[in-house]
Amino acid sequence: MIFLKSLIAMLAVGPIMTVNGQSAADPHPADHLRAAKAGLGARLFSDASLSADGKVSCASCHLPDHGFSDRRAVSIGVNSRTGTRNAPDLATVGSYRFFSWDGRASTLEAQVLMALLDPFEHGFESASQLLEKLDLDKTYPGDFSTVFGSESRSVTIENFLSAITSYIRSLESSQDWLDRYIVDSSNEKVPEITTRGLEVFRNIAGCSDCHTITDLHAPLTDNGFHEGVARPHDPSMHLADVATQLASTSADARDRLISGDPAISDLGRFVVTLNPDDIGKFRTPSLRNVASTGPYMHDGSIESLEEAIDWELYRRGAASGRAIVLTPQDRSALIAFLKSLTNRNHEPIVNPEPREFSHMVPSTLRSQPASREHQRDAWSRSGITSRSL
Ligand code: HEC
Ligand code: HEC
Repeated sequence: MIFLKSLIAMLAVGPIMTVNGQSAADPHPADHLRAAKAGLGARLFSDASLSADGKVSCASCHLPDHGFSDRRAVSIGVNSRTGTRNAPDLATVGSYRFFSWDGRASTLEAQVLMALLDPFEHGFESASQLLEKLDLDKTYPGDFSTVFGSESRSVTIENFLSAITSYIRSLESSQDWLDRYIVDSSNEKVPEITTRGLEVFRNIAGCSDCHTITDLHAPLTDNGFHEGVARPHDPSMHLADVATQLASTSADARDRLISGDPAISDLGRFVVTLNPDDIGKFRTPSLRNVASTGPYMHDGSIESLEEAIDWELYRRGAASGRAIVLTPQDRSALIAFLKSLTNRNHEPIVNPEPREFSHMVPSTLRSQPASREHQRDAWSRSGITSRSL
């Protein structure tokens, strides 16, 4: 034990040992660990055996070749159960402070756990059901210890979420022309129609009031909640009763109501805050990669990008009391601008090849307890309560 501790202390500061005993400095150990976690996460992400019916993976609804969203208006999960919401693109999660259309998850880890326990997504009744499946797998226990260390049990829900969120974070789109252009427009060759579209988006139609673009950043979301496409709520629905019911249900039961009942789903942010001002409000989605993530809106009710833009022009104009009227040229420019936000080089930084990740982590890092401590810290900061485990 003492030997192990001194070895770790040495590894933390000095040259690290390779398998064959030669010393070699690894300039980027943290990067290797992250890549190994993301590699394992990629495999978990697309493994359909990790669901109650053995047929649904994260990639069933977050399709890698469709901007990590799906082509359906609303998603279909275990036992072909149809949910109420459109699967969002995952390459933009770095822009958000809250997750889900109503922002009810405050960390990425909490969001992923929700997907596992949602009867309309992976359908597990508890995290232990998932862990049992992983434990019985021929390779996962070994793969988890390779990445997370093997001094004790490494197939844990914390490690599972850590791997899968590392993968999701690695999907983030790299810089686009827009990021460079807003900081310094002089070096960027952009078609005139696209820069005109940016002008329309920012100044003429006021889209950037919510789909934020500042002089430094273009997250294209304000992380705020605004009126969505939801129809006015059904008058026969007694909101006071719904609010009372929601106030006394657990978070899991609330999630089931949102995924199973379109009328509850359409109440949007209200379901989280129970504030009547939040009825029908949804988190502003980032518009990165928007051309490849249709159908649109929280309920997938708008099929094409052009229709979504026309709806927003009409609705946002009506809400501000000042109709937005564009010339046909400016409308085309606005469409061209939104289409230009598709990152064509958008590829995951890790090779999602299922079993080929262990080579990415130096052998000396594989059982380094310091990284496990770090894991626990990150976990305790994530805000997930043991209740949900
Ligand atoms: C059955 C389809 C389905 C499956 C399976 C699924 N998701 Fe999702 N995902 C959705 C939908 C729909 C939403 C939006 C939920 C809402 O707003 O209530 C979502 C939201 C998310 C978000 C939040 C994105 C944002 O913009 O806020 C993340 C992250 C995410 N899913 C990751 C995952 C991961 C990781 C898995 C696998 C463990 C997974 N999802 C499995 C359909 C699915
Ligand atoms: C007041 C804030 C606000 C303004 C202004 C605004 N949007 Fe939105 N936008 C939203 C919200 C909120 C949603 C999600 C609505 C829903 O899901 O029901 C959205 C959704 C969208 C979508 C669908 C994205 C997806 O992934 O489904 C597009 C496209 C869009 N907006 C474009 C625009 C354009 C173009 C403008 C300018 C004419 C604009 N928006 C102005 C808040 C706003």
